[in-house]
Amino acid sequence: MTIRHFLQFKDFSRQDIEHLFKRTRVIKDRFKRYQTYHPCVDRSLVMIFEKASTRTRLSFEAGFQQLGGTAIYLNTRDSQLGRGEPVEDAAQVISRMCDVVMIRTFEQTIIERFAAHSRVPVINGLTNEYHPCQILADMYTFIEHRGSISGKTVAWIGDSNNMLYTWLQAAELFDFTVHVSSPPGYQVDPAMAGSSIRCLRSFDDPMAAASGAHLVTTDVWTSMGFEAENEERLRAFADYQVDAEMMGVAAPDALFMHCLPAHRGEEVSAEVIDGPQSVVWDEAENRLHVQKALLEYLVVGHVDD
Ligand code: CP
Ligand code: NVA
Repeated sequence: MTIRHFLQFKDFSRQDIEHLFKRTRVIKDRFKRYQTYHPCVDRSLVMIFEKASTRTRLSFEAGFQQLGGTAIYLNTRDSQLGRGEPVEDAAQVISRMCDVVMIRTFEQTIIERFAAHSRVPVINGLTNEYHPCQILADMYTFIEHRGSISGKTVAWIGDSNNMLYTWLQAAELFDFTVHVSSPPGYQVDPAMAGSSIRCLRSFDDPMAAASGAHLVTTDVWTSMGFEAENEERLRAFADYQVDAEMMGVAAPDALFMHCLPAHRGEEVSAEVIDGPQSVVWDEAENRLHVQKALLEYLVVGHVDD
């Protein structure tokens, strides 16, 4: 039997994602009404973190417990993972003792190697290249507030990072356009974008990228693992802050999103992130609900009720 993994957004079809969103609505609604839903009793999720996290850990751990299962946290510091045990060996052992694994790590090749030797589904909880669970939450949040995202324009202002490359994969699957404005030296790598480059429009001027957009979104200028470049990046990105003037050229009902954690005064002004167009708290909460739908899908299978 082939095991389904969610290592990058395009591992799932549009139909799979639409099913997840349908289940997210049901699971979220039941949860809000305090209805117990325990399809994962006696099942275990192992969460492996090689980078810091607040939202990802909390949403996976609380989410799997809410589904009736047990979540086990491992990090590099306190396990053999940081002491040179081969990823392939760790995958063989860990996947014999649990039902699903979530990994946050550095290179995408690490989770690919883990998945190749795993007996159970593996979920990408962020790598240097992609952050697919976050884009599930972002798209779901957009749809909740504004309806279908197909045909819409998402403006990405700032670093061409794991979030942007995942947005591009989502755009290809759901037929929307991503306007991107990044400073010289930090622009999209066409090899990373692959065929999703057809959904991308690049702009030198961030104001032009935001113009008419239905969603304006950004992320930290220095992602985890790139801390040594922080000073240089602060200088390079200085003109790429999402501020009220930039939101002013977007569509009148444009939303603002940020995966968090945010740096007010750097990639976004306090006025925007704390303002009326910002949906960052809904976006963060929806990590919980979309990932419960994802865990249900990978552990239990296609549920329809
Ligand atoms: N957005 C996100 O993944 O947050 P954490 O780094 O806190 O998990
Ligand atoms: N691009 C950021 C996202 C953090 C959730 C990082 O990789 O650090």
